Amino acid sequence: MSNLKYDFTGKTVIVTGAARGIGLELGRFFQEAGANTYLVDFDGDEVEKAAADIGARGMRADVGNTEDVNAVVEAAATETGRVDIVVNNAGILRDTVLWKMTDEDWEAVLNVHAGGTFRFTRAAVPHFRAQNFGRVINVTSYTGLRGNTGQANYATAKAGIIGFTKTAAKELARFGVTVNAISPNAATRMVASIPEEKMAELSAQIPMGRFAEPSEMAAAIGFLASEEAGYITGVVLPVDGGISM
Ligand SMILES: NC(=O)c1ccc[n+]([C@@H]2O[C@H](COP(=O)([O-])OP(=O)(O)OC[C@H]3O[C@@H](n4cnc5c(N)ncnc54)[C@H](O)[C@@H]3O)[C@@H](O)[C@H]2O)c1
Repeated sequence: MSNLKYDFTGKTVIVTGAARGIGLELGRFFQEAGANTYLVDFDGDEVEKAAADIGARGMRADVGNTEDVNAVVEAAATETGRVDIVVNNAGILRDTVLWKMTDEDWEAVLNVHAGGTFRFTRAAVPHFRAQNFGRVINVTSYTGLRGNTGQANYATAKAGIIGFTKTAAKELARFGVTVNAISPNAATRMVASIPEEKMAELSAQIPMGRFAEPSEMAAAIGFLASEEAGYITGVVLPVDGGISM
């Protein structure tokens, strides 16, 4: 639960990968700040439960599927008359060293992270243009800049998201749209599979000495999504306790 006070009343927000983890906390944050919030996830049962808990709208959609993505954006636009903020957060891992990585491992990770980010942003553009306003916040990782053993697919996808963020920022600036990214480091299911010893070792490398709670991502997201941040675009903001320094 966040004590941050932002007001997103009247804004329509879509958060992908929102059944749990960072996405759910971001959805909670926007809903508490007054937005019409759409939680989107591949895991339909879980996202509907999560959305019901916080009073948001939950929709099952695969960010890897163009029809699913367009249906979410159209539903949000039809039901609320707007699409203001898109947070591209959905993610998967298929970790293994590159010589054991299958085409499926490679394509699945690129299609969800980079492909999903592209699809949702593309679908929102007509609405952003009509409103002369929009905010896109993508979720990347410092793995995209530094690489990480076992994550050739993930590192490539996350680096790609940085290139996409900057390109979209350039293309959409003329329509009053900003496109930025955050680079998180939070204790979620995605890091839960890391053994305890390794977690202790990793935490010791973080200047802040710990992983963030997923809710701590809201500070950066709320700021980048606000009307007041309208002159900030193409930025990758680390929210990582200093690990990427
Ligand atoms: N946790 C971290 O420290 C960390 C660090 C760097 C980047 N990230 C990024 O943050 C984002 C959220 O990560 P998290 O740790 O909360 O992970 P998580 O696994 O807890 O949540 C990811 C969510 O995305 C959903 N999802 C997966 N594939 C999907 C698809 N095709 N369509 C729709 N939804 C789909 C999953 O069902 C899940 O609910 C990811 O993009 C991840 O790469 C996380």
